[in-house]
Amino acid sequence: MTGMPEGLTTVAYIGAIILFILSLSGLSNPESSRRGNFYGMVGMALAVGATVLGPRVTAAGIPWIIAAMVVGGGVGVFAARTVKMTQMPELVALMHSLVGLAAMLVGFASYIDPDATASSNAAEITIHHAEIYIGILIGAVTFAGSIIAFGKLSGKIGGKPLLLPGRHFLNLAGLLVVIWFGYQFMHASSINEGMTPLIVMTVIALLFGVHMVMAIGGADMPVVVSMLNSYSGWAAAATGFMLSNDLLIVTGALVGSSGAILSYIMCRAMNRNFFSVIAGGFGGGVPAAASTGGVTAPVGEVVPISAVETAELLRDAKSVIIVPGYGMAVAQAQHTVYEITKFLREKGVNVRFGIHPVAGRMPGHMNVLLAEAKVPYDIVMEMDEINDDFPNTDVVMVIGANDIVNPSAQDDPGSPIAGMPVLEVWKAKTSIVMKRSMASGYAGVDNPLFYKENNRMLFGDAKKMLDEVLSALRA
Ligand code: TAP
Repeated sequence: MTGMPEGLTTVAYIGAIILFILSLSGLSNPESSRRGNFYGMVGMALAVGATVLGPRVTAAGIPWIIAAMVVGGGVGVFAARTVKMTQMPELVALMHSLVGLAAMLVGFASYIDPDATASSNAAEITIHHAEIYIGILIGAVTFAGSIIAFGKLSGKIGGKPLLLPGRHFLNLAGLLVVIWFGYQFMHASSINEGMTPLIVMTVIALLFGVHMVMAIGGADMPVVVSMLNSYSGWAAAATGFMLSNDLLIVTGALVGSSGAILSYIMCRAMNRNFFSVIAGGFGGGVPAAASTGGVTAPVGEVVPISAVETAELLRDAKSVIIVPGYGMAVAQAQHTVYEITKFLREKGVNVRFGIHPVAGRMPGHMNVLLAEAKVPYDIVMEMDEINDDFPNTDVVMVIGANDIVNPSAQDDPGSPIAGMPVLEVWKAKTSIVMKRSMASGYAGVDNPLFYKENNRMLFGDAKKMLDEVLSALRA
């Protein structure tokens, strides 16, 4: 044994927990999010430091831990530096899978570790075994589900939901088998005897994780990623129980509950029932060419506009709302957007931003990009704050957004996105949509907005077109 006394470790753990809570509350607002991130980093450094130097790590173990941290940290730094912002959800899904894998491995290790099962107290052993069984179960579902989510988000696996016949029955049967083997496991008289039910349950949990996420369609993937985030928290909490580590229990519970709340908020934003998302089968749409629309095909004519004409409209406007979407992130157009905003505001135009809760590919995607470009927070509005203002707006610039401004969500009950709240940009005097083609967005549905009389299409890469608009404004 080495290092810090138990009491000091406990104090450091409490400090880390407070920092994690401050971090979460900081992250709930763009203005305080940098500070929130900082608290999180300090809390994590404190947590890792106190654990490595704490009484439960032997001196012989430290070089191993440092070597693992160097390798893991190296991979993490490489991934964080090379991953594109638009690939972030895939990276997050992959990281959740590691939490699940860790919970599984810790579970098996603590089952076969003679020290961990050395207690002579029958109740303690029963509790420890229950922790192992439940921990491995949650870990395996999280691991397999996150790997499939990674595959779907990165396009390696198709986005269409896989709907096996009798899938609810299959899931129920799996649950009953897991309970039955749980009983066998708890009553096993030796490690050898307990290993079989443990392995069978792990295989079923892995298959369940694969099945659960395979059954969920493309349009519901944002909710799934946030749900797996929540699972990874519970997996970490389960690991904390297995290792009797209070910090891991609290941290896991924080991640688990905040992920669950986020899933709920996203479901509400997309007008989806949480349980029907989990039951799967919705939103088979994958990014596709337009025309895979809902029941009614759009009518009207598509009217293109040039960058110079766009600049003229903007110059004559009194109020402008900018609606950014995934395409702005792809084109990295946020800095030019900021320059245009600055120019128009200096000329006395009231410029604001309308942010849909699922714009882009991850929660807060647009807020992060706009903050990076130094757009002032007070002109960045949420959907509910700005939706009533469109009828009093002269020009709306929709930059690389599609699904979040699709009127068929309101008008076409047969549309795959029917019922999803959208930004009502068509109510403005003129809307200008910037995108490269008539292709559909993430949900794969055609957009009647493009055919409306007061809508104009500025075709081209968002960054390139906005640069042209900016030069025309300045000319
Ligand atoms: P989308 O509906 O995906 O539309 C983005 C549009 O950007 C595309 O139609 C594309 O049209 C255009 N685009 C792509 N690259 C561009 C470029 N370089 N320059 C200009 N335009 C470009 O995006 P959205 O409106 O932001 O909606 C988000 C969708 O993603 C929703 O369906 C949501 O459910 C889903 N989703 C959200 C999340 C989260 S948590 N936010 C996570 C996963 C999925 P062109 O190809 O014609 O250019």
